[in-house]
Amino acid sequence: MRVNGVAFRSIWYDEHEKSVKIIDQRWLPYEFRTAFLKTRNDFAIAISDMWVRGAPLIGATAAYAIAEEMAVDPSNENLASAWKQLNETRPTAINLRWALTRCKNALEILPENARAVAAMKLAHDIAEEDVAINQNIGMHTLDLIRKLAAERPTGAPINILTHCNAGWLATVDWGTATSGMYQAHDAGIPIHVWVDETRPRNQGGLTSWELGSHGIPHTYITDNAGGHLMQHGQVDMVIVGTDRTTSRGDVCNKIGTYLKALAAFDNGVPFYVALPSPTIDWTVADGVTEIPIEERQASEVSHIMGIDSNKNIGTVQITPVGTETGNPAFDVTPNRLITGLITERGITEASSKGLLSLFPEFKVQNK
Ligand code: MRU
Repeated sequence: MRVNGVAFRSIWYDEHEKSVKIIDQRWLPYEFRTAFLKTRNDFAIAISDMWVRGAPLIGATAAYAIAEEMAVDPSNENLASAWKQLNETRPTAINLRWALTRCKNALEILPENARAVAAMKLAHDIAEEDVAINQNIGMHTLDLIRKLAAERPTGAPINILTHCNAGWLATVDWGTATSGMYQAHDAGIPIHVWVDETRPRNQGGLTSWELGSHGIPHTYITDNAGGHLMQHGQVDMVIVGTDRTTSRGDVCNKIGTYLKALAAFDNGVPFYVALPSPTIDWTVADGVTEIPIEERQASEVSHIMGIDSNKNIGTVQITPVGTETGNPAFDVTPNRLITGLITERGITEASSKGLLSLFPEFKVQNK
């Protein structure tokens, strides 16, 4: 997507510097900065401290980390230890384990002297595949939005609510939840997006920054406003992303998603999840009991980052000194609350039957 008219991806290989480069998301939406990642520790810190974030982007970043690591030491021991260190950086988004395991399986059958080149090719493949998957998710989302627009002869915009940032910043390009928004806007269908703030990390600021850069009308709202807007007919559909979807279609996503799904269900508002297939964890069924939920540091809740009128970026404390805070970063929306899963192969119901109808080559591995 474009930043000030220049095409960017969230991660890329800088041929000039011979190094992986990322958009450093810690500074957005206040400042646009990029950073090089060189060592295994650079990559691990960038993932755990959320310089890069979003399930698909975390996966692609881990693949590039393995590629860089293979150029340093292609041994089996190093491959296993890189897999372990990177896999521990964030526990909930399954794309991390998916990408690392794909790399490990492909590389350990090769002679050591062939691994560096193969690993870099694989990282590029994973990145390109992500872009194609998201573009297809967007096409299927566009069909849904087009249908809603056809039912509205007044030409008033379709109001879409989204939570967190499942945008191009959270993927290599396009985003998952946002891909259809970009495609609808580009097709001339009027849309307006309600952007949840998404405390504590305020990923809504990233979504607003993205949508604003693309000229899509949107309104940033507090996390508690969505239910009220739905009761008053101001939300036509909800589209969110996912960090891990189980074989039966339970969806784990950014904390607060479940409450939006409950409100949507109560108000008859369609609730869709944009789901790239690498985000399906075929080894688990019950999302509530089986998915590990990342607990992040207290300071994300007790403090908030912002920019003052002198354009200085800073952090202030918002809780009384010494107050205990809790920071579960994700929650699980049970499949019964989900209208449909929008995958790269089409839209299906949130169930094992639905997922297997689109992905018959996979097997449910849980009991
Ligand atoms: O903690 P984050 O910012 O990495 O969480 C991101 C989300 O929850 C996204 O909705 C999810 O990863 C899907 S991104 C296409």
